[in-house]
Parts: sequence; structure tokens; C-alpha cells
Amino acid sequence: MGVKYDTSARTITIHTQHTTYQMKIGPYGFLLHTYYGARTEGDFSYVVGYGDRGFSGNPNDAGMDRTVSADVLPLEYSCEGNGDYRPAALSVRLPNGASGCDLRYASHHVEQGKYSLPGLPSVFGQPEEAETLVVLLKDVVGNVSVELKYGIFYDMDVITRAVVIRNVSEEDLVLQRADSLSLDLAYGKWDMIHFHGRHVMERVPERLSVGHEEITVGSRRGSSSHQHNPFVILAGKNTDEDHGPCLGAAFLYSGSFECCAGAEQFETTRLLMGIQSERLDYRLGPGEAFFGPEVALAFSGRGLTELSHLFHDLISRNVIRGPWKNVRRPVLINTWEAMGMDFDRDKLIGMAKASRDLGIEMLVLDDGWFGARNDDNAGLGDWQANETKLGGSIGSLAGEIRGLGLKFGLWIEPEMVNEDSDLYRAHPDWALTIPGKLPVRARNQLVLDFSRTEIVDAVFDQLAKVLDECRPDYLKMDMNRSLSDVYSAVAGYQSQGEILYRYTLGVYHFLDRMTERYPEMLIEGCSGGGGRFDAGMLYYTPQIWCSDNTDAIDRLLIQYGTSFGYPPSTWGAHVSAVPNGCTGRSVPFGTRAVTAMAGTFGYELDPGHLTDEEKAEIPRQIEAFKKYWPLLHQGRYYRLTDVAKDTKKAAWMVVSPDRSEALVSVVAMDSGHRMFGEFVPCRGLDPDALYEDVRSGGRFTGTMLMEVGLPIGSCFGHKWMRQYDAGQVLLRRAEDR
Ligand code: GLA
Repeated sequence: MGVKYDTSARTITIHTQHTTYQMKIGPYGFLLHTYYGARTEGDFSYVVGYGDRGFSGNPNDAGMDRTVSADVLPLEYSCEGNGDYRPAALSVRLPNGASGCDLRYASHHVEQGKYSLPGLPSVFGQPEEAETLVVLLKDVVGNVSVELKYGIFYDMDVITRAVVIRNVSEEDLVLQRADSLSLDLAYGKWDMIHFHGRHVMERVPERLSVGHEEITVGSRRGSSSHQHNPFVILAGKNTDEDHGPCLGAAFLYSGSFECCAGAEQFETTRLLMGIQSERLDYRLGPGEAFFGPEVALAFSGRGLTELSHLFHDLISRNVIRGPWKNVRRPVLINTWEAMGMDFDRDKLIGMAKASRDLGIEMLVLDDGWFGARNDDNAGLGDWQANETKLGGSIGSLAGEIRGLGLKFGLWIEPEMVNEDSDLYRAHPDWALTIPGKLPVRARNQLVLDFSRTEIVDAVFDQLAKVLDECRPDYLKMDMNRSLSDVYSAVAGYQSQGEILYRYTLGVYHFLDRMTERYPEMLIEGCSGGGGRFDAGMLYYTPQIWCSDNTDAIDRLLIQYGTSFGYPPSTWGAHVSAVPNGCTGRSVPFGTRAVTAMAGTFGYELDPGHLTDEEKAEIPRQIEAFKKYWPLLHQGRYYRLTDVAKDTKKAAWMVVSPDRSEALVSVVAMDSGHRMFGEFVPCRGLDPDALYEDVRSGGRFTGTMLMEVGLPIGSCFGHKWMRQYDAGQVLLRRAEDR
């Protein structure tokens, strides 16, 4: 299908429908990267420059030929020890303490279907929709072999990459760095767009010029983190939403990671992505292999919107699995912001009844239902229902809630333990702690050593008893601190540098068991909001709580940043009470619904505290969400304003695949009188079609809507939008009415 080998040019070319990726077996067997961009035929060997350059050494086997140096070649997979002084993807410590590795091409072949990676999430594909290119590199000295795997999704315009590093020597080797992606672009000037943040403000986009310094983003926290997201974009200097080259890299991994970009002395830009190397010291015995997690790559020559759509499609179709893929998720109400851990049976049933009467479909019992968990200082690890608090067994509670016509959801945080818990008292060595050092506490909890399968299984078995009893329709899997004191009691001195990686494998093992045993259950990922919002997690959990910040205005920026790499159906988003618990801001009820409707939609408040007006509003909001759902989660998502920069309004829209319907949402960030004369230019419509604003009956051509836009004011039902007012406009192709 998509791989061609040109025996005379010695190029291996991957084609997808609209992109081309080329590598070349260069002099002395160096595997070179020559091109990744818009689809084309041809030999890109000319991008590689040869010449004698000072202080760039030559491989020994080149003899007197000084024109070849690993220091300047665009390499397909870089390593430390071959004369390349740039940051390298692979670093192997030899038994004698040196780090010397020199990888050369050995062979390649193509396999039908998409490879998978043991114990790790990866993009899946039917045998007919994907193929795998395997390129084998061998170390000149004979210590390691590296299998570069490429998953080629022709129709989707996606190429995945992964590495398998094998010790082919007779002695132990140590991996000090083992990135999954190494991409050298010998041409072009690039910006790096990455997504930084913190707890309660995740995935804020930042665009940096890639110069001659090395820009490194990543996480050392044991989770992908609030602070940086394992999704980055390299964009041309003038690339915007609709124009210009850009490529995205999404790491399907939920643990510590790093991503580095920089231009070298002769302007080649190198992008690296992989597991965090600072804490890595991974011992490989003879014959053993290390599997690097997968990076999914996509390229667009037509700007950031198209790139986002490629990732939205990839994640919706080939990452998310199970029965909840492409299905509207139940409109839920979550107990957390309404009552914290202060509840009993009467309160829960009262909330369930009130919610049912408003049209809500599921009650989610958040933190506080187990062990001695009445505040966040105790109980984690004791996954037995607190029957006194619940007024009976959890099975009976779930039954009563179901009897009211609601689904039932439950919160868990399996990776954690409080010192004040029976689990910790029985097994203090199950927590990550360094002998002789008191561990760092966060939220007064410690982290269980999920690198140990027996601990993962013990926690799973405890939880399975509860889940078997109450059979939740939905599970919120949380993780509320960063890892520290990373020492595993059973690992031994030589293996402590593997624990962070093995911990993440433990989390995946837990999730594998969950999805196998409860295949119908919808799982929502969470880590203090969006601290583990990554494509790896989405392989198990079709949605992830975006942020603990539910302020509708702050959410606009969080969701805007999230939209670059992740589809709206994955964004856990709820309407919460005002003044907002996080920001103190009061935003109109309708605006909170418009913002939450961009994501999965639900409520996070006490219906007993609502005004009659608000109560009357909820069924209408739910009806609107259900009506718009096919558009919202199956349509194309367009960013209409730069939420990070536009201080007047935030706007986005979704367009049906056939462009016959669209929903435009706008939130006024400023008062309407300051926006007089402001328009919201639409995108993604058919320029020649006539569209009708369904509410006002106003008619516009697609060109009018895209070139000028909808006037703020007349279209949104307010003469003057007040600050934080929101409006939604449903556009329908006029002939279809
Ligand atoms: C995290 C989650 C919240 C809530 C609390 C419960 O902070 O993000 O939504 O579940 O934990 O402790």
C-alpha cells in the first residue's frame, strides 16, 4: 500500500493519502531522514549535505573520507556515541561504564496490519487499514539492535512510530535514554507549539521559535502532568489555523516524558519525544528488549485546524475503544462540588431524585464512599464501602439509584494510599518510600508501588469486589498527586531506574484488567482534573476530566488548548455552581452550559440549591445537548478565536460532516457595547451554500459567514451581550429545510 523502496536511490518512502515520509540508506549505512510533508513522488536525497566540517568527526569506517559525519547528518534515529553531539534519542551504558553506540541500517520489511506493543497503549487498526514498516538498525559494535516500527494509516494520514531496543550482547546493558521519536528536519524554520499549565489551568498553548537552543518540555512527575502535555506541534513560521505546514506528535504514554526541539549548527531541526530520561536507568539483560511507547505523527500543509482534525479522527476512531466510542455519554451529575465527602444515604437519594426530575441520566458518587474517608487525610487504599455512611451496602445504594431511573457511577483512586488506612498499616512497604527518608506527602497521601504487579492485582481484587456488587455504569479513575520517593522495596539497587516506567505499565495493567472485566463500563480518566490527559490514557478511558477548574470562563482557555490535540468527546466538562469554588467568579447559568456542552456535558452542583429559573433551565439544556450531540461530537470542530489572545470574545463552532448544519458558540469576554460592530467569522462551511440562522430566520451565504461572520448582537438574541453572556447559533443549509 504505502511503502516503496527505491533500490538505486536507496530511499524508503512511506506514502499516506496526502503525506510522504522518506528515509534513505546513506553512506556507510547511516539511516537518514530526508522528508516528512505534503505528498509527492521523488528523491529527497539532495537535502543531505556532505562536506568536511571542523569539529564534526567522521566514522572510523569512512577511512580518509571526511565528508560524512553523524554530527550533521539528518538521522532517522539518533544515538549517543557515534560522533553526533546533538541531544540523541538513544543512550546505552556499556558494562565498562562508557556510552558508545553507533547504529547503521541492517534491513527492512513490511507487514500487513498495525503492530502492537506489549503492555502499552497504541493506535489500533484493522489489517486492511494499516500496515507496519519495520526497519532494523544494528550497532556497529554489536551491543544493541533497534527495531524502528512505523504504523502507516494511509487513509487517516497518520504514521505512528515506536522502538524496540534489544540487547544482543552477552552482558547487561543500561538504557540511559530511549526516546521513541527522533525526527531530523534538514530544511525549514519551525515554531514549537506546546501546552503547559498547572493544576486548575491545564494545556495553555505557547508558541516558541525553535532556534539554536534546545527547548525541552516534559514531566518528571510519574504522570504526563498538568504542567506539560505529551502533544506538541512543529509549525512553519507563518503557519496559522488555515495555512502552512505543521506536524503534530502525540505520545501515547501517561508517565514521565520529555520532548525536545532545537536547531543545530547547520540548521537541521531535531525533534525528540520519549519517556523521561532523567530518571531512567533501565537494565537490559542479554536477549532482553525494551519497548518504547508509541508516538503518533500527522502532517498538514494547510494549517493547524486540519492538523487538529487529523488527531481528532485518529483518537476517536483508532485510539478510543469499547462500546462508548462514538456514542453519546450519559448526562451525569457528580457529587464532588455539591457535597464533597459530607453525604449520607438521604442526601444521595435526595440528589438522585432531584436530578432525575430534571432529566439528568446518571449519578456519580465521587470521593468519600469507602473506608474511613471523611476528609482527604484517611482511607485511601481501603476499598470497602462505608456502609454506615451509605446507609447500607453499596449494592443496595446503586439499586435504589437505578430504581429511580438513573445510571450509577463511582469514583476510585487506586494508585494511592493514606498512611491512616488499614492497607498502609498492613503493608507500609507497598508505598513508594526511600528507606531512611521520610516521604514527601501530597494531599496527605502516598503512592502505591504500581511497578509491582502483585500490588496492582491486590488493589484490583479489592475494588473488583465492590464493582461486582454495584456494577457501576461509569467509573472515574483519579490520581491526585505526583510521584516522589521513587524507590521500590523489592527492586534492588540496579533496577530502581526502571520504576517510573514500570509504574506506568502497572497503571495500564490495572486498566487492562478493568476494561476486560467490565467491558460495558464507561471510564473517565482524571488526575486532579487534567493532570493525565494524554492519548495513552484515552486508549482505556474514552473521556478525561479536563480540569478541577470548572469556572466557565477559565474553561474556555483550557478547552481551547485541549482542542489542538484531542477531540471534544474526550473533554470531561460540567456545569457547576457559582460563585465558582476555584475562581470566585459568577457566570450566567446558560454560559456555563454552553461551555460544558463543548465537551461531555454534565452537572457538578447541588440541585437543591438552584433557583426555580435554573431548575427550569436544566431540562432545556439537556435537550439542547442531546439535539446537538451528533454535531458536537461527530462534526468538525473549529476554533474561531484565539482564546489566549482575544480579550473580547471566545468562539468556536462545529460543522456536520456534510456541511449542512453548524452550531456556533460565542461567549462575551467583554461587555457588548464594546463589541458593537464585532463579527464572528465562521469556518468550515460550504461557501456557495445558503445558510439560515434557525432561530432568527436570517439567511447568509457560506461566503458571507466565513468572510464577514455573524454579527454579535442580532444573532445571539441580546442587543448588548453582557460580559460572560453566551449565545449559540444553529445554522442550517437553507435548501434542506
Ligand atoms: C480530584 C478530582 C475531583 C474530585 C476529587 C476527589 O481533585 O479532580 O474531581 O474527584 O479529586 O477527591
